[in-house]
Amino acid sequence: MEQTVLRVSNLCKRFARRGRADVVAVDDVSFDIAAGECVGLVGGSGSGKSTVARLVTRLIEPTSGRIVLNGKDVTNVRGAERRAMAKDVQMVFQSPVSSFDPRRTLGEGIGESLRNRGVSKADARSRVLELLDQCGLPAECADRYPREVSGGQCQRAAIARALAPDPALLICDEATSALDVTVQAQIVALLRHIQRERGLALLFVCHDLALVQGLCDRVLVMRAGRIVEDGPARTVLLSPTHDYTRQLLAACSASRRSDG
Ligand SMILES: Nc1ncnc2c1ncn2[C@@H]1O[C@H](COP(=O)(O)OP(=O)(O)OP(=O)(O)O)[C@@H](O)[C@H]1O
Ligand SMILES: [Mg+2]
Repeated sequence: MEQTVLRVSNLCKRFARRGRADVVAVDDVSFDIAAGECVGLVGGSGSGKSTVARLVTRLIEPTSGRIVLNGKDVTNVRGAERRAMAKDVQMVFQSPVSSFDPRRTLGEGIGESLRNRGVSKADARSRVLELLDQCGLPAECADRYPREVSGGQCQRAAIARALAPDPALLICDEATSALDVTVQAQIVALLRHIQRERGLALLFVCHDLALVQGLCDRVLVMRAGRIVEDGPARTVLLSPTHDYTRQLLAACSASRRSDG
């Protein structure tokens, strides 16, 4: 049987807002991700995708439900335990440049988690160079600052940083959305390569269904905080059963036509 890396059960997140009604951003969401599986999470703006990503990485507290990572219940972990979780789950965000400290080199940023775990400076440095190479970057990038590389190179460095702790699960939240189309395709190819080579579980949050189709085995479709469709990528994207998925597909191909 395939090993389950992530199991999310009945997850809910309600945001309280001063003087206004609460927002239920995530409403009874359940799904699993197996080792080596690549799952796309799609849905319109505000459907709750980033909230799911932030809940799973425990950047925010769930209102209710359960999150189990590698067999360990992490729903309520805090402090040191929460930081220790970073070994198992890492995230790559939309804006690579702002995800790095501008005063530190990319090499320092990538090696930080290793240094924090007590890896020597020399060992961290050689691991950083290996990671840069695996992510298609020259060694000299280690000594550059985030503003001194292109957006695509910076996103590769962010992927290298996420891989440094050797996580079981990588979450990419719109990791290609700020990049131009050819660079997007390169980053997707890199993620596919790394994911297969490492047997990594990948949750790929993206509003571009064509990219999701090229990368993912399975697709979850979110609408208003709920998962309305969950199935193999080909089935969901080529013959969706839900009207909402059809609307998303139509909107996506219309925006591609207007881009091209
Ligand atoms: N900290 C917060 N406080 C209040 N409401 C929030 C907060 N974070 C998110 N929300 C609300 O929760 C809902 C889901 O937001 P979320 O960012 O998860 O959507 P998304 O699917 O990632 O959208 P996008 O595609 O635009 O990134 C939205 O209505 C949003 O306004
Ligand atoms: Mg989002």
